[in-house]
Amino acid sequence: MNTVTKAQGLQALALIGHGTVGKALYQQLNKLPGYVIAGVAVKHPEKHSASIPPELLHRNAMDLINDERVTVVLEAIDDEAASLEYAKRALELGKTYITASKKMVANHMETLHLCENQFGAKLLYDAAVCGAIPVLRTLHSHLKAEPIHAVRGILNGTCNYILSRMWNEEIGFEEALEAAQSLGFAESDPSSDVDGHDTYYKALLIARTMHSGTPPLSRVQFEGIRQVSSADVSAAKKHGQKIKLVANIQQSPDKFTIDIRPTNVEAGDALYHVDGALNAVSLEGLHMGTLTLQGLGAGGHPTASAMVGDLMNTPQQALLTLRKVRAQLGV
Ligand SMILES: NC(=O)c1ccc[n+]([C@@H]2O[C@H](COP(=O)([O-])OP(=O)(O)OC[C@H]3O[C@@H](n4cnc5c(N)ncnc54)[C@H](OP(=O)(O)O)[C@@H]3O)[C@@H](O)[C@H]2O)c1
Repeated sequence: MNTVTKAQGLQALALIGHGTVGKALYQQLNKLPGYVIAGVAVKHPEKHSASIPPELLHRNAMDLINDERVTVVLEAIDDEAASLEYAKRALELGKTYITASKKMVANHMETLHLCENQFGAKLLYDAAVCGAIPVLRTLHSHLKAEPIHAVRGILNGTCNYILSRMWNEEIGFEEALEAAQSLGFAESDPSSDVDGHDTYYKALLIARTMHSGTPPLSRVQFEGIRQVSSADVSAAKKHGQKIKLVANIQQSPDKFTIDIRPTNVEAGDALYHVDGALNAVSLEGLHMGTLTLQGLGAGGHPTASAMVGDLMNTPQQALLTLRKVRAQLGV
């Protein structure tokens, strides 16, 4: 495999996780020219023997990360502690680590950033913020030209789905939550979504990108949607408004604030028409005005597509493109 990979100019990838996101990622990567999957690590390999060739299945993700053929590790698992250990090891080895695990990155940004700097490695996590919507990539590219002083958005599809059902059908929170759970838009334990934690992690990752490092947060406030009653929604409707869980991330020269709360949104607001499980994010720049991105903020394929997008932006990919251009030019 080593010689085959090198001879064919293929880049070897390690995948960790084969759940909702990992399965979609495995399918997308298998169709991507220029790459080869060196292995897939999961917690219970026996569950995956029908969909992954046995020679690719691993129980020990560290073996795969340590494999010297592997240059990029893509991870989508639901275990924060394990995810952190895998990320640290891959970065220590100078590899690129692409993850969808927002909680892990949000809680350990400083450690991971130190590893990146110390070992010349790269951590990419666009998939962790609003799935297929390229929020962090767009921020990175605009920040090269001008400061982005505010980001405002609907960052959680579960909350938006529940609030949309409450508005459309004039039902209460519990009934809308049950409907969301039965259709797979909410987990059996919905607290991370409905209590605002998931939105907070994403807001923190956005703030970090806006500031290009650890943001000097002067105020963080977040609440979820459990307290939103059908009476609140009816009152909003009477005034031609909708209630949305809106995250506001503001940067000024001396302070940085994150504010997440259920908000009455007017019909003229870009967020008013963002319904169901969709997410939307508005960026405000000094010269560009307001730019709003809208799309699928979660789900296997949308999230995996953001990870593939990160893969296209790895330092290794930039090097390969440079080599191709040089070969074409004969320099
Ligand atoms: N689902 C989404 O729409 C979405 C969107 C954005 C971000 N994310 C994030 O992406 C991550 C994965 O989400 P998911 O929905 O795909 O989860 P999931 O369906 O529960 O799948 C988790 C996968 O991780 C594997 N796993 C767990 N612990 C492991 C370990 N220590 N080593 C190796 N593999 C391990 C599991 O293996 P077994 O199958 O063998 O048990 C499983 O394949 C989470 O951090 C989530 O927050 C998810």
